[in-house]
Amino acid sequence: MDKISVEGGSRLYGRTVIGGMKNSALPVIYACLLIKDECIIENVPRVSDVENSLQILRGMGAYADFVGEHTVRIDASSVGGEIKDFPLVSKMRASSYLMGVLISRFGEAYLPMPGGCNFGARPIEQHLKGFSCLGATCSEENGLITIKAKEKLKSAKITLDKISVGATINTVLASVLVDGETVIENVAREPHVIDLINFLNACGAKIVHLGSKIAVEGVKKLHGIKYRIYPDMIESLTYMACVGVCGGEAELIGAEFSHISYVCDIFGKMGLEIKSDRERIIVKSRGNINGADVITAPYPLFPTDLHPQFAAMLCFANGGGTVTEEIFPGRFGYVAELQKMGAHIVREKNSVIISKSEMHAAELDATDLRAGAALIVASLGADGRSIVNNVGYIVRGYENIVGKISDLGGKIKFIKEI
Ligand code: EPZ
Repeated sequence: MDKISVEGGSRLYGRTVIGGMKNSALPVIYACLLIKDECIIENVPRVSDVENSLQILRGMGAYADFVGEHTVRIDASSVGGEIKDFPLVSKMRASSYLMGVLISRFGEAYLPMPGGCNFGARPIEQHLKGFSCLGATCSEENGLITIKAKEKLKSAKITLDKISVGATINTVLASVLVDGETVIENVAREPHVIDLINFLNACGAKIVHLGSKIAVEGVKKLHGIKYRIYPDMIESLTYMACVGVCGGEAELIGAEFSHISYVCDIFGKMGLEIKSDRERIIVKSRGNINGADVITAPYPLFPTDLHPQFAAMLCFANGGGTVTEEIFPGRFGYVAELQKMGAHIVREKNSVIISKSEMHAAELDATDLRAGAALIVASLGADGRSIVNNVGYIVRGYENIVGKISDLGGKIKFIKEI
């Protein structure tokens, strides 16, 4: 498995381009299976989860490929309901969106349990609840899911038991072509949920996101479209964390401030100086940041996908701080790795208490996508040469992270395993 080498300890100065949001592009790609027409999706990041999802669609008979650097063409006109690439489906969480689109278009779905980053259980009972409320029958056996809608799906009023990005998206996908009005309550409101709804509405759907609930007026069919994905909020915040730790100044071209204002407010209190206009975010830091205490929660509050990177920042922050994880209790794989660098981190149930530490370079192992990003943030701030192993996790969600951090002046490179 390839490695990343980081020579830490220097300030960052530079500019780089923020790519399209992985967690928007993925549901939009699967939603194209509802459309018997050509869709052109722009600003799609070249990350392995996207490549694998396009492969799954091709295996189902769709045209699905990059036709430009970040532009994907999908034509699902002649798609059958059968999934060929079960191993790929079980590698990713986003493939769970196949459930909603398949029962919507074909009235049934048969697929393995979706995978995803290994930070604990990734249940799908809320997804299945949405489908059942619409009239489908769902069963799971030996890791395989069968969903059948013998009759046509019927509109319904659905209240999800917990706020779930995936269950919200999947229930929208399952109801968008169902006659009548379906109302989904207790929904997620992440920008990637809004991005998907905007895409579907551009294709002729009638969906309104009302904050805590979503109203879906079923339509007969959807038409093809050209659509541009939102910029990646977690990529923007990750590079801002790098500047916070190292000091310096970065221009993040294409970053969308309105999606990350809550965290930027916290970064400001920690001593980062953040300015933005329609095209970019500029972040400055003296490198001597103050600590903070955060609790992860559904949008618009502190995103769980920034937890590990933020914990890495706290290792360099005056007074340290705490992170309490309320979404994924298994998200602490990064702790042991940061402790290899000298981090003073005490784990208490679903929180970590972090003190400012004398961080030094080390050989580290990424345990999941955002944990891997956290190790890069910490390595940039620690004097000496660190090595980050298991880079496969990182490239799932960060396109060209080495090139972009190099753009910012970081001394970082891939080490190809022979
Ligand atoms: C999406 O995962 C993202 N993945 C995750 O990003 C992100 O961390 C998460 O949303 C939260 O923002 C994609 O978009 C592909 P959830 P998802 O359903 O949809 C529980 C990354 O780093 N839950 O919002 O799986 C669940 O266990 C990845 O890019 C149930 O209990 O997250 C969790 O505790 C990692 N039952 C909470 O809800 C269900 O049926 C929120 O999960 C569904 C979820």
